[in-house]
Amino acid sequence: MLPSYSQEDTPLLTAMKNYVDDGVIPFHTPGHKFGKGMHHRLGSIVGRASLEMDLALLPELDDLHEPHGCIKAAQDLAAELYGADHSFFVVNGTTGGIYAMILTIAGPGDKIIVPRNAHRSIIGGVLLNGAIPVFMHPEVDKHLGLAQGVTPETVEEAIHRHPDAKGVLIINPTYYGVATDLQRIVDIVHDHNMPVVVDEAHGPHLHFSSRLPLQALDAGADICAQSTHKIIGALTQCSMVHCREGRVSVPRLKAMLQLVQSTSPNYILMASLDVARMQMATEGHKLVARAVELAEWVRAEINCIPGLYSFGADKIGAPGVFSLDPTKVTVTVKGLGLTGAEAERILRHEYKVQVELSDMYNVLFLITLGDGEAEARAMVEALRALAANHAGKRDFSSMEDAYGSDYPPIPEQVLSPRQALFGHTKTIPFKQAAGRVCAEIITFYPPGIPLLCPGERISAEIIAYCLRLQKAGLHISGPEDYMLKTVKVVE
Ligand SMILES: Cc1ncc(COP(=O)(O)O)c(C=O)c1O
Repeated sequence: MLPSYSQEDTPLLTAMKNYVDDGVIPFHTPGHKFGKGMHHRLGSIVGRASLEMDLALLPELDDLHEPHGCIKAAQDLAAELYGADHSFFVVNGTTGGIYAMILTIAGPGDKIIVPRNAHRSIIGGVLLNGAIPVFMHPEVDKHLGLAQGVTPETVEEAIHRHPDAKGVLIINPTYYGVATDLQRIVDIVHDHNMPVVVDEAHGPHLHFSSRLPLQALDAGADICAQSTHKIIGALTQCSMVHCREGRVSVPRLKAMLQLVQSTSPNYILMASLDVARMQMATEGHKLVARAVELAEWVRAEINCIPGLYSFGADKIGAPGVFSLDPTKVTVTVKGLGLTGAEAERILRHEYKVQVELSDMYNVLFLITLGDGEAEARAMVEALRALAANHAGKRDFSSMEDAYGSDYPPIPEQVLSPRQALFGHTKTIPFKQAAGRVCAEIITFYPPGIPLLCPGERISAEIIAYCLRLQKAGLHISGPEDYMLKTVKVVE
């Protein structure tokens, strides 16, 4: 029997501290032995106190893969807080969580319904297990150059075409904070007796404010993976997978999480998940409310700067936009005649402000629990200076026209991505590739939706479309030859 803990406790961190305080002489891994064997160049930066906590699998410290002690207690507290039947700590990011979710619901040759703008970890998951992705097109905001959510109607239609699929994967919310109507989607998918698994990399804080989109589990989803490290207080690489019993096999999920993670998980990383959970339990609502307030203030200020625009509640109700996380502040800079990448460079090097990411038209800022008024003001001032001093002369209308309304249909899937990736491939001129099976991903930004994935038939129409986007100056991502003179195809 485990002792009973409250949400104010941190069972894993406390067990680690007790071990260190006991004055044990370690004849176990890690080899640096509390930092004594580590070169001072790193040791002096990390510090002795931290290195003493860099511990290993020991009887008192439980085992991530077979937890029955302090790790189990820490995970159970996370499950209680997030409303899950089971929660699991993941030290390989949401990438690892997504691999495990996909491996849990589908096997080789099984179909899984996923958005076409899936993060690369989702494509990685289907490459690992040999599943066949059935792609759904997200809605596209042409003016912002962003892929938004997939609508419930799109999900319903995909299930109708593929009633034999093993499940549906949804992104909640997108990197830019846009959420679809997840509750309706969950109802539709469950009506067809399939599980819903959710890439919630950008949503570990959703549960703590009614001003944010609904958390996947609260919408009734079966499994979700959240990057605790991205938005709240855990260290980089630390995520959690939460699940509900019923439609998915929990033992299989546990086995798959074992498969994608080290047998020597870092204890400081795991303890950071324990502490992040305690922090959210004790102060989460207050901290998230402050971040939301700050972000809304920033957004209002930005929208007063000529040439800049930050979308917010005004977009709710647009296709694929059911709700929005306001703490993701997307600033559209094309009104200045600058690309997002140009704005990112200027902000970094002239004003010492680093954004989370940039794309063709936008830069994205994350406002989190770690920000205060000073940071918010500095951000607004930097954007004011950017607008005043760097407005360019570029006109983006030809790009918008290039990827406009005639987005080509998703190509015929001939092989699974795994068969295409591991098959014999050769490189041929792109213009002569019609009829061949593609062996790589080709994506143009905006809007970042792949035009070709491994295993798909290349058509003359897709070739013409890609060449048109290239001519209009859109950025290509994915192929080995980024000039797209050649393409890798299956022999
Ligand atoms: C939408 C989405 N899903 C999954 C991931 C992977 O998360 P992690 O970096 O925690 O592995 C990311 C990372 O950026 C992401 O943006």
